[in-house]
Amino acid sequence: MRLPYFVDPAPSEGAVGSRATGVSDAPGLSLDGHWQFRLRPDAGDLGDAFAVEPFPAAPSTDAGWSELPVPAHWQLHGHGSPAYTNVSYPFPIDPPFVPDENPTGEYRRAFDLPDDWPGLAPGPQPGGRTLLRFDGVDSCYRVWLNGVALGHAKGSRLAHEFEVGHLLRPGRNTVAVRVHQWSSGSYLEDQDMWWLSGIFRSVTLLARPEPALDDVFVRAGWDHTTGAGTLAITTCGPGVRLDVPELGLHDADPAGPHVLPGTEPWTAETPRLYEAVLHTDREQVRLRVGFRTVAVTDGLLTVNGRPITFRGVNRHEWHPEHGRALDRATMLADVLLMKRHNINAVRTSHYPPHPDFLDLCDEYGLWVIDECDLETHGFEQVGWRGNPSADPRWRDALLDRIQRTVERDKNHPSVIVWSLGNESGTGDNLAAMAHWCRARDPERPVHYEGDHDSGYVDLYSRMYASHEEVDAIGRRAEPAPADPALDAHRRDLPFVLCEYAHAMGNGPGGLSEYQRLFERHARVQGGFVWEWIDHGIARTAADGRRWYAYGGDFDEPLHDGNFVADGLLFPDRTPSPGLLEFAKVIEPVRLEADPADGSLRVTNLHDFRSLDHLALSWRLEDSDGRVLEDGTLEVPDLAAGQACTLPLSAGAHGSPVRSAPAGSWLTVSAVLAADEPWADAGHEVAWAQLAAGQESRTGALSPAPGSARGGARPGVRPTARPVVDDAGQVRVGPAVFSATGALGELAGLPVAVARLDVWRAPTDNDLGGGEQSLARIWQRAGLDRLRHRTVSAAIDGDGFTVRTRVAAAASDRGLLTTYGWREQDGCLRLDLTVEPDGDWSGLALPRIGLQLAVALGCAEVGWYGLGPGESYRDSRAAARLGAWSSPFEALQTPYLMPQENGNRSQVRWAEFTDAGGRGLRVTGDPVFDFAARPWSGAALAAARHPHELSPDGLLHLSLDLAHDGLGSASCGPGPLPEHRLHPRKDQLSLLLSPV
Ligand code: GAL
Repeated sequence: MRLPYFVDPAPSEGAVGSRATGVSDAPGLSLDGHWQFRLRPDAGDLGDAFAVEPFPAAPSTDAGWSELPVPAHWQLHGHGSPAYTNVSYPFPIDPPFVPDENPTGEYRRAFDLPDDWPGLAPGPQPGGRTLLRFDGVDSCYRVWLNGVALGHAKGSRLAHEFEVGHLLRPGRNTVAVRVHQWSSGSYLEDQDMWWLSGIFRSVTLLARPEPALDDVFVRAGWDHTTGAGTLAITTCGPGVRLDVPELGLHDADPAGPHVLPGTEPWTAETPRLYEAVLHTDREQVRLRVGFRTVAVTDGLLTVNGRPITFRGVNRHEWHPEHGRALDRATMLADVLLMKRHNINAVRTSHYPPHPDFLDLCDEYGLWVIDECDLETHGFEQVGWRGNPSADPRWRDALLDRIQRTVERDKNHPSVIVWSLGNESGTGDNLAAMAHWCRARDPERPVHYEGDHDSGYVDLYSRMYASHEEVDAIGRRAEPAPADPALDAHRRDLPFVLCEYAHAMGNGPGGLSEYQRLFERHARVQGGFVWEWIDHGIARTAADGRRWYAYGGDFDEPLHDGNFVADGLLFPDRTPSPGLLEFAKVIEPVRLEADPADGSLRVTNLHDFRSLDHLALSWRLEDSDGRVLEDGTLEVPDLAAGQACTLPLSAGAHGSPVRSAPAGSWLTVSAVLAADEPWADAGHEVAWAQLAAGQESRTGALSPAPGSARGGARPGVRPTARPVVDDAGQVRVGPAVFSATGALGELAGLPVAVARLDVWRAPTDNDLGGGEQSLARIWQRAGLDRLRHRTVSAAIDGDGFTVRTRVAAAASDRGLLTTYGWREQDGCLRLDLTVEPDGDWSGLALPRIGLQLAVALGCAEVGWYGLGPGESYRDSRAAARLGAWSSPFEALQTPYLMPQENGNRSQVRWAEFTDAGGRGLRVTGDPVFDFAARPWSGAALAAARHPHELSPDGLLHLSLDLAHDGLGSASCGPGPLPEHRLHPRKDQLSLLLSPV
């Protein structure tokens, strides 16, 4: 029995062969806009009346008809709802079958054909065809024109064209499309993203003259030994001519090959494009040609003869209101954001993007790994039984997918690697895809991470490998592959991390350490952070606040929660702290100031570009952020990969590093000297800071004491002893304690909590790893439910000393805590000592610090330390030393799932003030970390979305000695050993005073 078309694994029927998209002057008609739409609950016996019978201009709502924009997903327009799963198929694994419940959208519209449409003119037919093109329909669809069925197609992110010229008539025509949510194609589209359906990319009618320039294949290489470009363009049919005026080609034979001395090459750093025109008597096609040669040579991936390093991201297409239906402005925003954050590469995870995105990558300069629309990950859950990658019945479908990917995108210079897909196990069909790719386009390497032995790929690729493993691979010392016969082959291949540094929630930590490995080992040619953007869906709460939904928010019976929110951008494209960190870690120029000899080491980490597009400046600031001196430096003439050392002498004081006042800081900055297409002159590309003063010769980034606003300095005037008042309370400087040691009032503010805390609202990374997760370990150890027992509280000479033992129920392990309170220079001084008691072996703490909650309507926070954004011990490259201020609210980072956030590191002093400028000042001796929130850590941990949190009237401060690292364990390794916070005897010293 023949299977229904939407269940049959066969890819499509009736669609013409795939081809490259060029900009043709032949007429086109956009069919985007409002279509009539109705959603049927299943794909059963629907008949074709909706498409065949004449339909009214305003269809009956009784029959379920309404309007829907094209392009769009129907679930984002009130029809059905989005659903999110990562690996799991949301239907039984019963290939190629799909459930009877198969939401099916019926679309139809009328359109008027322009009177001068080719082929319609009266008299002798000029000949020619018309194609109806769909750039993306999820997941399977059947098409009718003027009531005649044209065929059907699968491959949601692939283009399909149907021949319609013979059916068109002058004036009014109709087009109808039936789209099934589920199809055999869904088994091949198990990417980690929302399940969203419909016609989500454009629909166009394209006139094709005869002869037409239907498909062209541009091969444009660049020989780094001669500087010559070679251009050879394959076209279909005779009589095609080529013009590339800038290269002196006029009316040339496109086939060439044309050897063109003195051609400027295309690279992601220097995206030089040449305008070319192909023409016949009937059609002109505009192309933008970039000359570059990609090769795997001597175990390295090279472009134009030089190895490259990917500073990349994985990009899903996402918009918080429109899902994967992106407009060009959004695509451009992505490209500009990438370029401005030093990103040089994109893996189009896990499907070919909208074609406009690749145009933008060509134009602005990004290396692209173009990935086929393929993922069958859900079969892993059944031991890969029935996986289409290894089943001959699916061979045509898989081949069709890679062919449509390569054919559509083959003329983009930015595309330097083809990727077969993602997480689809392995099997002969994947190998066949690789062989087809190589035969069709021998000039680009083939990538597929799932081929663990690298038997049929040209790059060795892994995801989420630990630093240790990357180091071993870098040394070509990795264990042999499962098939030892492939050992020599794989060991010779260049290595990339196609995914690493899972950017979910707060993090990732450990980026700097990965980058050092990329720089240390030639074989390790960089990687692609997972992933670019959180796929949150915009919603509005009852009180009007905007929030972003993730898995489970649409009552999906099966879902993977907020695993869909793991990007470097928040859904509205605000950069997360993770993106700022990444931009700093991957900056293409390294500046290292040496305090010992007052010099600056400059390393050009570009792969191709010199530094002549940059300007270098320096600025010396005192500990209040006042600029003492500034100046510029001559930009050294450094080719890519070279380094040099510059003397840092300038300005009236001579060398700012050596002779600067104590406690001052030097910032050196490399900015764009002139406007680039992606950023204006002055845009900062790289920077460095160091301690500059006479007393700060270590250069360590910890603020020196002595800030004017820092106020209290130890031992300035005699200490006032504690006093017991008539009520039996103990008064110490600006504080009042109960006789048993509880801090009740500070600087005139009532105190709700003031005690040791070692827990944090778990981050997504703390929660990663299930039962082995840090959050579970901490929870089992009871760190979220510690009890405090006062051992003693006594006036002790100049101070009031309170000793407690802090421990969890059902455990004999504890923390001996001593609060040494005393008055100092009008402030309350705290020396908080913590000492582990019992067996803490193997346990690291989330943090160690004082939890302080006071009744203050905080409005503004100022501090001197690292900022302006949040930072943690393994994610703080992007934080700069300075005097910062921020509205209180803005200190919270709105991760889609609320969690620990907002830590400011290495702070010398901080002030928390209300609207009237009154409040609390905290000074470190020497430094502390702080987070300030209008809710407790417990409330933060309990909330599922930021808009569920409301201020409780208190200022909640975490004043910390240290935090555990962040790591990347939401998918990947946890914090590195050097970033763990193992308990040991430690002390935090603070001064608290009124403002
Ligand atoms: C990878 C996968 C990605 C994504 C990521 C976790 O295994 O390739 O698509 O699921 O894990 O966010």
